[in-house]
Amino acid sequence: MADSYDILAISGSLRAGSFNTHLLRAVASRAPEALRLDIITPRGVPLYDGDVEERDGIPPIVEELKERVRAADALVIATPEYNFSVPGVLKNMIDWLSRGEHQPFNGKHVGIMGASTGPIGTARSQYHLRMTLQSLYAVVMPRPEIFVTKARDKFASDGTLTDEATEKIIATWLKHFEPWARLGQQHGRV
Ligand SMILES: Cc1cc2nc3c(=O)[nH]c(=O)nc-3n(C[C@H](O)[C@H](O)[C@H](O)COP(=O)(O)O)c2cc1C
Repeated sequence: MADSYDILAISGSLRAGSFNTHLLRAVASRAPEALRLDIITPRGVPLYDGDVEERDGIPPIVEELKERVRAADALVIATPEYNFSVPGVLKNMIDWLSRGEHQPFNGKHVGIMGASTGPIGTARSQYHLRMTLQSLYAVVMPRPEIFVTKARDKFASDGTLTDEATEKIIATWLKHFEPWARLGQQHGRV
């Protein structure tokens, strides 16, 4: 449909109370009607194992995810930061998605963001994530950037965003991301 964009939003955390999932929910609830965000996590994706791939091929759950990535007009990825980098569950999911015949990240328009309890707000992991996505020919929106620092102070216990500065950066980010998603749709589904 013209002027509406299907966005697959990936939270890189499995935690029910994940600040990154809360962040994506905050973005989804503030997004213009044209941006439809579907939030998922890496839950259920097996550990990448080259022997399994050789013996059984790509696992069905990964094939399904590849299709969802391929079909999306654009992606949003919210990454936590673990030991200054991308959490294993998210990297593992991306590694599996990069296997097989179709490369779902090729030409895919992506926006990234992240929330951490530390003072840097996932800056380091986001830059590592950009590097990985670049290797897969994804087209990552350069800015604005969303680094949610000290996440415990910014969300209520039910996951509601309570921080005004984060509200503002989300609004600015959405203004940039809508045309980014449009470009992704025009670029076509690979
Ligand atoms: C193994 C591990 C390593 C972590 N390393 C960092 C780090 O390097 N930088 C940081 O800001 N927070 C770090 N944290 C704290 C995370 O920011 C915090 O657990 C955050 O809530 C994870 O995201 P989530 O709420 O979406 O699950 C680490 C947490 C774990 C479990």
